Amino acid sequence: MAHHDDLIATDIHAYLRAQENKSYLRFITCGSVDDGKSTLIGRLLYDSKLIYEDQLASIEKDSKKSGTQGDRIDLALLVDGLAAEREQGITIDVAYRFFSTDKRKFIVADTPGHVQYTRNMATGASTADVAVLLIDARYGVQEQTRRHAFIASLLGIRHVVVAVNKMDLLDFDQRAFNEIDASFREFAADLGFADIVCIPMSALEGDNVITPSENTCWYHGPTLLEYLETADVDGGTLNAPFRLPVQWVNRPNLDFRGFSGTIASGTVEVGDDIIVVPSGKRSTVKDIVTFDGNRKIAREDMAVTLTLKDEIDISRGDIICKTDAPAEQADQFQAQVIWMAEQRLFPGREYLLKTGNKTIPAKVSKLKHRIDINDFSQVAANTLELNEIGVVTLSLNAPIAFDPYSDNRATGAFILIDRQTHETIGAGMLNFSLRRAKNVLWQDLDVNKAARSEQKGQKPALLWFTGLSGSGKSTIANLVDKRLMDMGRHTYTLDGDNVRHGLNRDLNFSKADRIENIRRIGEVAKLMVDAGLITMASFISPYRAERQMARELLEDGEFIEIYVNTPLDVAEARDVKGLYARARAGEIKNFTGIDSDYEHPENPEIIVDTVKMSAEEAADLIVDHLSERGFFNVGEG
Ligand code: ADX
Repeated sequence: MAHHDDLIATDIHAYLRAQENKSYLRFITCGSVDDGKSTLIGRLLYDSKLIYEDQLASIEKDSKKSGTQGDRIDLALLVDGLAAEREQGITIDVAYRFFSTDKRKFIVADTPGHVQYTRNMATGASTADVAVLLIDARYGVQEQTRRHAFIASLLGIRHVVVAVNKMDLLDFDQRAFNEIDASFREFAADLGFADIVCIPMSALEGDNVITPSENTCWYHGPTLLEYLETADVDGGTLNAPFRLPVQWVNRPNLDFRGFSGTIASGTVEVGDDIIVVPSGKRSTVKDIVTFDGNRKIAREDMAVTLTLKDEIDISRGDIICKTDAPAEQADQFQAQVIWMAEQRLFPGREYLLKTGNKTIPAKVSKLKHRIDINDFSQVAANTLELNEIGVVTLSLNAPIAFDPYSDNRATGAFILIDRQTHETIGAGMLNFSLRRAKNVLWQDLDVNKAARSEQKGQKPALLWFTGLSGSGKSTIANLVDKRLMDMGRHTYTLDGDNVRHGLNRDLNFSKADRIENIRRIGEVAKLMVDAGLITMASFISPYRAERQMARELLEDGEFIEIYVNTPLDVAEARDVKGLYARARAGEIKNFTGIDSDYEHPENPEIIVDTVKMSAEEAADLIVDHLSERGFFNVGEG
């Protein structure tokens, strides 16, 4: 690559790193059982002389025994390594193979051709640079071809080779090839591939796999190996921000604590400032320990143990990042899911979601739509069936560190696991977090009010209902509480009658005791607001000074005074509890409004006129007020 020469002059380290990295190309092969996939990979290995003699001898023997290819060597046997699949005639396991030529080293993930192909495509293959899609020339582009291409594009694979195989069975008919070439390109036009190369091939005979075929003199493109050796891929995610998903905390003795894992992207150097997501803890890299000793710099794909200058808590599944480009953290996502199980996806059911080294209970809270892989249209759906692809909202039991998949394939991919069977039932890509207030956690985080309210997706508040006895405070507060509850908000209600049975059972209705009553309620309500709750306090609270005191315990904007305005004659006429009658009869002393003062609020946030307004209307008014002031649209998608 030309720019490497510039790199030598400008940044020799970057050049050397690029050299180290350049030699790898990762690709996947996808096709159905009969497309000849295993034969193709076998041909690649065999013709590039990468098979050991003893392997060859055993295959020659097996080929004669199984007799599928007459006297010739059955190259598929090379690849179909498992006894079981030889018996069944299908490939059943994920297989990574490593081989190299003069020009490049290769890692190929061989994806099984039957129904489980997506599992490998979506997991192991999410780092592939190139997808080789096999098509049987006799049948052309099939539904499965489209599905594979679509998944490859979802996975962020930018380079596609369409291996139009079994051309020998069509006498290397150029027209048939051109038709397949054209129909694939038409279909894939919107999939965002950087390049598509169609190659007419016979994996069985070796045409255009390694060497150009004389049977296709009309074809002037590269052979498969030529393409793989020269494809200009982006070179992985070396330049992406540093991410180390922690696999385990290595603590052999009290003097050593290291955080081990394989670097998912980027590079790290001794002395780098790091931040741990999701906890927000910060420190500096002290040592980078590897199997081959300490290093000054480490880069993606390396297994390392980092030690830090400070003693901070890091757990398995946390991601260590550099402070200048931290990963995000969230517990609600929009994501794409590829469903891989016979049993259908059910929104609302609890699955386990695994990203990197973290496994957490999660639900698909909403299936937004399914994607029709024929025309990429969005189809309304209640469930996903085997191999279907959908866009969903995910809700996790706790926040995880992540990057959007489009930014980082390593930290943006996940799988879903069945809780009972522990089978992988889905795989997917995190598109974005549905909680916007995510940077709250960037500061070295204590569990504080901000964190607690962020967790609940709301701003805490204290709704202070004041008014005469029997004015309707508790009725309205209860309705508001119910409504907020229905909206998924986190609330609590403190009520005069209840609190006086417990916390304040030692208080009566003298002026001094009423003041003490409200003082205690103010303090308790403050704790509840600190817990992130939308709190309702329903007390006569007859004195301005104590209401003001409660207001001042809170931060600006948190205290919302609601004057439940019911004139004395109305409250007395209703006399729900029969207390007014008893007060008039002299049985109850110091009754508010009769022989004890009520100081109405001068400047309340909300006034409820219960003569004109029903309790329901009053509750609506209050909920609307909260909503307009942004108390609980925090974190809604
Ligand atoms: S406050 O004045 O100290 O705020 P609080 O709201 O706790 O009063 O309690 C008021 C409730 O206690 C009333 O709704 C009523 O049911 C009951 N109550 C009993 N005695 C009195 C009284 N003397 N004055 C007012 N309310 C009373």
